[in-house]
Amino acid sequence: MQVTENSFKGKTVVLTAGPTYEAIDPVRFIGNHSTGKMGYALAECFAAHGANVYVVSGPVNLQARHQSIHITHITSADEMYAAVKQLAPEADIIVYAAAVADYKPKVVADKKIKKTGDDLTIELVKNVDIAAALGKEKKEGQFSVGFALETHNESANAREKLQKKNLDMIVLNSLNDPGAGFKHDTNKITIIEKDATTAFELKQKTEVAQDIVNLIWERLNG
Ligand code: CTP
Repeated sequence: MQVTENSFKGKTVVLTAGPTYEAIDPVRFIGNHSTGKMGYALAECFAAHGANVYVVSGPVNLQARHQSIHITHITSADEMYAAVKQLAPEADIIVYAAAVADYKPKVVADKKIKKTGDDLTIELVKNVDIAAALGKEKKEGQFSVGFALETHNESANAREKLQKKNLDMIVLNSLNDPGAGFKHDTNKITIIEKDATTAFELKQKTEVAQDIVNLIWERLNG
């Protein structure tokens, strides 16, 4: 069977996308180069196949086109977690495509930090792992997908994350593949599941989104 425009009709998809920004003071933050393109491409693809899609999005320069996509804009990992936690109980499918900052400043200065000494140390504390935390509360029949960007031991690391975060699928992009990952319109992925590994060619992110959506559909209907 082929995925059609109604394949995900009646399904609710919750998706995280983009980076998170962790405030240092009122004018500075710790962030990363995620553009959100992969997450937004997935949202469009699910919506084009009939799903109702809720995107919890970090700061990006993108807009959703499909009317079945509802966006909640957040800035930090804590805000992303709070928004996803509220939406998660209704989700049939959750996709964690955001590049969440792993650490945040322990203290956020309430005034701009002035240039006084030659050194400046900012103490960081771990952020909540959104996928892992919600993986512990995953309800029966819910299907969850994570992303992993690895530079070494790719497959083994991805498998560990699959288990640790209680995911059904991990979309692995390797930084060793030219054209894959941040700042590119293309991506080369391998999808890792408990008992399967599926490798794809380098493609446009819109086509990569279709490959991911097709495989999720197969797993839900196979
Ligand atoms: N993730 C998340 N919350 C975090 C960190 C990651 O939800 N605080 C999700 C990402 O959206 C992605 C998956 O977990 O789907 C893997 O993220 P990654 O950063 O590769 O994994 P980490 O567990 O942070 O491991 P490390 O950075 O040490 O490789």
